Parts: sequence; structure tokens; C-alpha cells
Amino acid sequence: MKGRTTVPCGFLAHCKLFTKWGEDVKNPTFYQITDLHLYAGERIGSFGEAYDRKAQNDQKCMKESVAIVQAAFDAMAADKETEVILISGDLTFDGEKASHDLLVEMLTQLKKSGKRIFVTTATHDYRMNARGYNDHGAYPVEKYPREELREIYAEFGWNEAVAEHPASMSYAVKLFPGWRCLLMNDDGPEGYCGYSDDLLKWVKDQAVAAKADGERVIAVTHHPMLPPAKIYPLFSHGQMLSGYETTAPMFADFGIEYVFTGHTHMQSISHLDTIRGGRIYHINTGSVTGHPAPYRKMTITPEGIDVKTLNVTAFDWDLDGKSVDEYMKDHFLFMLRTIFDTMENDHEAFKRIGASFAVNEKAVDMLGPLLTLFGKIVNGLTFGGLAKLLLMPRTVQPSVKDVKVKEFLLDLISDLYSGKREFTPDTAVYRSFMPMARRLGKLVRLSDYYGNRVYLEDLFEDLMTNVKEEDNTNAFLPFVSKR
Ligand SMILES: [Fe+2]
Repeated sequence: MKGRTTVPCGFLAHCKLFTKWGEDVKNPTFYQITDLHLYAGERIGSFGEAYDRKAQNDQKCMKESVAIVQAAFDAMAADKETEVILISGDLTFDGEKASHDLLVEMLTQLKKSGKRIFVTTATHDYRMNARGYNDHGAYPVEKYPREELREIYAEFGWNEAVAEHPASMSYAVKLFPGWRCLLMNDDGPEGYCGYSDDLLKWVKDQAVAAKADGERVIAVTHHPMLPPAKIYPLFSHGQMLSGYETTAPMFADFGIEYVFTGHTHMQSISHLDTIRGGRIYHINTGSVTGHPAPYRKMTITPEGIDVKTLNVTAFDWDLDGKSVDEYMKDHFLFMLRTIFDTMENDHEAFKRIGASFAVNEKAVDMLGPLLTLFGKIVNGLTFGGLAKLLLMPRTVQPSVKDVKVKEFLLDLISDLYSGKREFTPDTAVYRSFMPMARRLGKLVRLSDYYGNRVYLEDLFEDLMTNVKEEDNTNAFLPFVSKR
């Protein structure tokens, strides 16, 4: 297989650096950046009203994507202590050939700064409707077929592979001495984002080989193995890694201790323990071109992995005098506000925007008047008004009586993406809203994908406050097993 025996000079440097592992040597570090969704708008020649509308109503910053990704690459290039960069799929906006070509050029430059880069691809790299835009609207543009992606990106992963699973385009590399990394491609056949039995057998073989060599194993895959929030699988079960309910514990019992994922565009860190004593940490990182422009830097210490979130803080764009954080949050909230506004006032526009959230047009037509009513309630209602409606006016503390329900929901959704959980149990918002959520929960019966009862108040509590061991932004994740 091409390049299997290649050992890059950077790797040799690391071997030298870590031969005295455990003594007075530097801890290895690596980056994860994901869901770049690079859109080479200038090369494609996109312009016009349809382009503006598309860019405005997407969670990611489509037009700014090249500038944002370049800024993140520049920051990583300037960090001389970190060689390794993991990129977990959705490299391009929708698989445009021009975007892939541009990204290869940018990665080539990044590699020249002394980096070892390992990518996986995902559905947005070949399966979607790649589009250009002009005065007449959107039109299809050229894409690469999936099987060509391995060759295009060979320099950024596969050429360092010590093992491959060709059917899935998954591969294994030695990340550092004592560390093996499985870069899993879960973007299999049409409509299926998961692992075949054959791929799972390959993973098990890799885990066994790693154990025999005294190595620890981390995995990288695009789709989440653990939900970023309780609400996520309820509405987006199909967006989880297919079979995640069994795959995550299986990986943990194979001895794979860390998995780095993307896809949700949300920041979360969590873990799963198995009855056999296995533990897997799940580090789900948001899209670097979406709010809040995150990527992660990991440090491997003798006790575990320290995860830190970094954010792009400047990029080559007119930000209207705003900070990057403000600019990207405003972009994100514009889209959400438009959704709430159109829900009440413009169902045709709601359908257009909703398409990117898999909202069904027929359902919008069917639910028309109900949707208008819901939009009206959400857009106009305050905490005080909601409490009156629920016949519990005294539950709302005076300081939050006039808080708009819509603004509260926007905060929750924004926090879901950024990983923040700002409404802790000591806040007036939490104390006022939770009793109302409990009452609403009695009126609305929810079930998960398997028909199990789900309680509305649990979903809201999970969005308001973090009850997990790990913070979603920065966390130290200790080893459970000895190697
Ligand atoms: Fe994505």
C-alpha cells in the first residue's frame, strides 16, 4: 500500500524527543480541528442574491470560511511545539472540487511549517449538492468522487498509515511513541454513517495490536459516538454515528480511551463507563467556521490528556468593528432569529431556511396555523407571561419577569453550540424556569427513538447547567487503564 513504510522526518524528531519518556522531557501535544466547510467562493465565482441568502442563513460562515480556516492554520503553524494536527471531516462546504483543491494547497503550506496532518473525510466532502451561485440562483459544480479523496489527501494522513481498511478509507498511524491513532471514516454507503462489521473487526485487531505493543489508542471519527446534549438524539438520532449505542461501549472495552469527533458543530466533552470497567472519553469539537470558531489543543501528560479549547480571534475580513466572537455569534443568531420570525410571519421563507435543518416542507404546510401560533407565543412571550399561562405566576422571580422566552431559547441554543452552560441552579433564570419546565413536561409527552419516556425538564436542565464531570470547553481526562 502506498507510503506504508514512509517515516516522516518529523516523526523521527519526535522519537528522539520522547525516548526518555517519563523523565525530564516535554509532553506531546496535538490539535483537533473539524468541520472546516471550506467554500472556495472566489474560485467558483459565486455571487448574487441566492449566494447572499445561502451564506446569511447557514450556521457556518460560508463566505468567510477561507479566511477563518487560514487564520486557524496560521495560528497552528506558529505553534512550534505542536507537530500533529487531526482533522475530523467535513473538509469542504458541500464537496466542491475547487474547495478541495484550495484546501490541499492550504494544507501543503501548513505541512511545510513542520506539521504532520491526519484527515478523514465525511459526507460534506462528496455526497452533498455542490453548488455555485450567480444571478439566476444556484447551479451544480464539479465534485470529486469519494474514492479519489484518499489520493488527493494521501499526503495528509494515508502516507503515514501503518494499517488501512481500504473499503472504508480508515487508517491507523503511530501518533507518538506509545500512541496509536485510528482515523475512522464513517461516511460509508449512501444514507449510512457508521461502521461495517468488517471495519469493527479491523478496529478490534488494531486495539489488540496496540495493546501488544504497549500503546494507548485514540480514535478520530466524524459522527458523534456520545450525544453532545440529551436533546440531540431526540431530534437528530440519524445524525449520531449509526449504532453508537453499542459502538461506544465496544470501543471502550477494546481499550480505546479517547475519541475525537465533529459533525454536530457543538462543543462537548463527556465519557462513558462500561460494566466491564472500560471508559471512553468523547471529545466533540465544534465547526471552526461556526460560532464560536473553536479548535482544540491537547497535551498528553503522564496522568492523562489535557484538553484546551482555542478560538480564532482574528481573520482577514471586514468585521464591522466587532470582535470575531461577536461577529460569529451575531451571524449565528441572525439565522436563528430569522427562523423564529419566519415561523410566525413567512412560511415560504421558513421552508427555505428549514431545509438546511431537515424541516419537511409538507409538514410546514400541514402545521401552518399551529406553527404561526407557536411562533407568536415564542416571539412575544415573557417569563412572566408564560408563568401566567401555566397558572403559576408566583414562580417567576421579579428580576427575570420580563425576560423574553425567545431570547432565553436563543441563549440556550447558542450555549449548546459553544459548550457553555450559563444558567446554574443558583441563577434566577434557572429557579424561575425549571418549575415551568416541569409543568410543561406534564403537558407534553416526549419519547426517544426507542419509545422510552423523556422528560422535558431533564432536557432543559441539561441545556442550562453542566452536571457532567467534564467541562465542555476545557477538561483534564485522566487515564483509567495502565499501559
Ligand atoms: Fe459539518
